[in-house]
This record gives sequence, structure tokens and C-alpha cells, in this order.
Amino acid sequence: MAPSASLIVLSAVAALVGIAVYLPMQRTKTLLEGPALVENFGMEKCQRVSGPSFCDDVRIQRNLNLGFLACDPSLPYRNFAASVFDESKMKENGALWVYDMTKPGSPAEKLTIKNFDGPFHPSGITFAPVSADGTPARVVIMVVNHVPLEIPRVEVLYYYPARKSLVYKKTISSEYFIAANKIAATESEMVHPNDDTPSFFLTNDHGYNITDWKRDYEEKYNLPASSMVYYNARADKAQEVGWRFQMPQALVSADDSESVWISQAKAGTLDLYKSHMLSEEHQQEEVISADTRRRLKITWPGMMNEDTLNTKSVNVGVDYDPIAKSLVALSHAKYNNYLQVAKEKLADKDAKPSVQSGFVVSKAVMYPVRVGETRPKPQKDMVFDPEERPRRYRLQYFVEPRISHDGSEFGSPSAVAVLGGKDGAADRVLVSSHYESGFLDCSF
Ligand SMILES: *[C@@H]1O[C@H](CO)[C@@H](O)[C@H](O)[C@H]1NC(C)=O
Repeated sequence: MAPSASLIVLSAVAALVGIAVYLPMQRTKTLLEGPALVENFGMEKCQRVSGPSFCDDVRIQRNLNLGFLACDPSLPYRNFAASVFDESKMKENGALWVYDMTKPGSPAEKLTIKNFDGPFHPSGITFAPVSADGTPARVVIMVVNHVPLEIPRVEVLYYYPARKSLVYKKTISSEYFIAANKIAATESEMVHPNDDTPSFFLTNDHGYNITDWKRDYEEKYNLPASSMVYYNARADKAQEVGWRFQMPQALVSADDSESVWISQAKAGTLDLYKSHMLSEEHQQEEVISADTRRRLKITWPGMMNEDTLNTKSVNVGVDYDPIAKSLVALSHAKYNNYLQVAKEKLADKDAKPSVQSGFVVSKAVMYPVRVGETRPKPQKDMVFDPEERPRRYRLQYFVEPRISHDGSEFGSPSAVAVLGGKDGAADRVLVSSHYESGFLDCSF
């Protein structure tokens, strides 16, 4: 008997669904494995700086010309990015380290936090915006703190550059910080007037925390399950404002006050999100302000994806210098090797890994591209004048590798920070690592 028409249609649908599921999984598998051979170039542009080990984030405070690193000797026992953990071994506390960028190569210095004695396992760092061009007397630093077996929280600290001292101010908690990793302060006027805490964005690296059984599936199938959260400092309230991210590992402010760049490690993309007013009904809320205790109307960001750079690499870091307009990304050369290193370090944090986990630093450069071309190519020699040909060309980012390294000298990258060179001068880039001692200071 001939198969019925409906059976044929059903098999065709089943085959299509199968392909639709298989292809993205295969693509992610290739992405995480990386190339067979990792190229080596550009390492001569870097010098290694000593000081901290096991760092999860590096940021540059550009007014002060200081690099700040969040580092934790307990990181090998609980690495959120690699999903390895044995919290019983977490004995030592982490710290913030400061690097004077006016003295290239001078060792970074460890900072102690005055008036703070709780457990401290720092991840993402951000600074409140500083209005003056000169040297601020005090900088508000916010850092994500992963206390074992608790929901991560955000510590608000004051840094006084003249005394090189760091002082604890307060702690911000929210049920939405479930797997918080990175944080980006905004320029919103919603600043707490009593202590200058700015409003901020924050990413969760996973949709489920490490004690939730669903996390195994999230890891195994690389599910896009994580979220972005916004904290309004005057309302003292957080809300989810972005969903379905595939392991975001970096978050920084972009050009507009409520816009951010996010690196999605397992999607192989860098994504630009901007806030829009999409629905007053859903975005506006009347709250009692945390400072004056009066009624206050607040607006939650309505985040829309404005640009996606498909880098086809496992991006762990991104940074943007709005003055120099420098956009820099950091990615793993072979992500699966990094996972192997993480497993071996969990067993013995001083062990020499059996595989190498390299990295690539790239710069995103804008080129004019002809509108309507399906596979646009940069036209490097053309001088772009948007006034003259507004409709025929648009500017598009192209991500170009500047340093590629197989991990033999430095590997297991965790974050990147850029101090953009003005008027064509070289960019200064700091690269931190989860498992190397020290970090890199590069110019290109
Ligand atoms: C992790 O998630 C589970 C289930 O969602 C919850 O019961 C638990 O309290 C959470 N633990 C932490 C430390 O956030």
C-alpha cells in the first residue's frame, strides 16, 4: 500500500524539525571546539604585568588612568563560566587590584576594603560615570560579589585615588541577580542622591543557578536561557529587561545612556542593545523612592537589539571607549580546551594544564558598505561621506583580529578593557585571565 499524503507530509515536517534542531547544535559544537590550529601573532604588542591571579574582570577608570581587576584565589573552586564548582574548598577571599596605567609594567597593587569583613568573591566591576574631565576625588565602584550558597549581590564601594583607599558603602540585593556576573553603570539621572549609587545593567551568565538541576541541561544543550537585569537606584528595585541570552560574559555601556554591548559566549556574537519606549503601560511604574520616600514615576528600559556582530568565536570580553569610539573584543581560541583546564584546576589549582587555552583580541572597525548587498565587503579605500550618499552606503562594523595566541605563554582569557587611542594613536588594552598569574597590557 502506498503511504498516504498526510504521512508523507508528516515525515517531511519531522525531517525539517530534525534539521532545524541539528544544525544550530552542530554550529555551536564547531564554535566551542575552535580551529584545529590556533595562529600565533601579535604577542610582541603585549607585556605581562604581575600582581593578581585568578581574575574574572578588568575595567579601566579612564579619568584616573587606572586599571581595576577583580581576582579571587577561590575562583578555581567555583568557576561560573566553566560550570565547575566545589564550594567546600572556597576558603580564601578575593580582592580588587589596581594598576597604574601611567607606569606600564609596574605591578598591580592589592586593595583592602575598609569597613567590610564579609566573604568577598568578586566578578564584574563597573564605575559610576564621572562628569568632570579632571581627576575625581572619589569614584563609586560597584562589584558583583558571589557569596557561596547565596544569591550574588552587588557591593557599592568608594575609591579615593589620593589615598589609594577603598571603603565599603552598601550592599544591593535582588532576587533577579540569580547568576549575576557582569555589571555596567548607566548615565541615567536615576542616581541615589544620598550615596551617588547609579542605576545599572547586570547580566546573569546562566538562567539557572548552580544548585538547580535544570542548569545541567542548559550547559549540555547550550540553551539560551540567561537574562539581563536593570537596577533603578532611586527606586532601589531591579527588573528583568532582556531574555534568552546564550551565556553572556561581558557587558559594557555603549554610546547612548541606556545602551549596552553584550558578548554572548555560546552564540558567537557581540550584541548592541538600546532602550526604547515601546509601551508606557508596561515600562512606567509609580514607586516610593528609596531616598525621599515620596512617590516617584520611573521608566524601565525597553531593550531592543540594534546590531549583532557574528564573530563566529566564543566571546568572553567586550569593551567600548565612547570618547575614542574603540570597540574591542576578547575571545577563546579553543573553548573546549579552556573547559578542560578548568576541570584540572578544580582538582589542583597549581597543576600545569595538559592542554593550552589560547585567546584572540579583536578590534571592531567601521567600514562603509553598499546597502542591499547580501554579503557586504568592506571598502577600505573609499572615503565615506554620509551627506553625499546617504542612501547608498551604511557604516558597518567588521571584527578584525589583532592578537592571536595559542595559550603557550598566556591563556584562559576572562575579560578585556580598552583605553582608546585618540587621533589615530594606538589603543591600550588590558587582558585578564582566569588561571594565569598576572595579566597583559597590550598596545595596537
Ligand atoms: C538556586 O535555585 C533553586 C531552584 O530555583 C533555589 O531553590 C535556590 O534557593 C537557589 N539557590 C541560590 C543560592 O540562589
